[in-house]
Amino acid sequence: MMQKITEATAFIKNIIGESPLVGIVLGSGLGSFTKEIKIEKEIAYGDIPHFPVSTVEGHSGKLIYGEMGGKKVIAMAGRFHYYEGYTPQEVVFPIRVMKFLGIQTLLLSNAAGGTNKDFKVGDLMIITDHISQFTPNPLVGKNEKELGTRFPDMTEPYRKDLIQKAKAIGVKAGYDLKQGVYIGVTGPTFETKAEYRMVHTLGADAVGMSTVQEVIAAVHMGLPVFAISVITDLGIREDENVITHEEVLQAAKEAEPKLTHIFKELVAQL
Ligand code: HPA
Repeated sequence: MMQKITEATAFIKNIIGESPLVGIVLGSGLGSFTKEIKIEKEIAYGDIPHFPVSTVEGHSGKLIYGEMGGKKVIAMAGRFHYYEGYTPQEVVFPIRVMKFLGIQTLLLSNAAGGTNKDFKVGDLMIITDHISQFTPNPLVGKNEKELGTRFPDMTEPYRKDLIQKAKAIGVKAGYDLKQGVYIGVTGPTFETKAEYRMVHTLGADAVGMSTVQEVIAAVHMGLPVFAISVITDLGIREDENVITHEEVLQAAKEAEPKLTHIFKELVAQL
């Protein structure tokens, strides 16, 4: 695995020529955020040695390198999900490569279902903690010492200082930012009503099919993480409406300007 990481990193470094400061992962329907980046290089996932290739609709599948908020950033437009059939190690591979490229902070976004009764569709939720016991842990298997320790501490996977900064940015912009616990599930089915109630009972405010494995890999490597969910649908609700992928993408698109503002300001402050 270390050799694969080294080869992919060398390939990208050869194209971009320098180290990005921040890595950004964009969730479903959130890809147009990249318009904010003064793009210098774009690299299709398919061209990078050992990179998995994204298949899901709404994910364009490339690395974007450029400048934002005066900083060099590298953004993943499209991520790899466990439900697509990738192994947990494949899901986190790009995160490891970004770390080896030199990023010092990782920002993640995702679309998620709300299970907190105070949430509305279109809300942004700063992730303060997560539950990751429903998808396989990406660190299962031989531990690579060069990446991190065998038993990583998970007391503060989402950095408090970054959360505070994001909250202040939200207050200044007049946003009603929510915060809470994200639970990672395999998907690709959305939850049954009983499952939404279950994750709520377990202490989750939002549920989604990404992020937790990536965060585990990042924390393993000592990388500071900030993550935010766009609440695209509500799991705990009275109506009988069904949840569709199209609806999720639409809600994400509508909330995107706020997310963009927060990420942009956060990067400027790093
Ligand atoms: N459940 C799981 N994943 C999701 C949801 C949801 O309701 N909405 C967006 N991603």
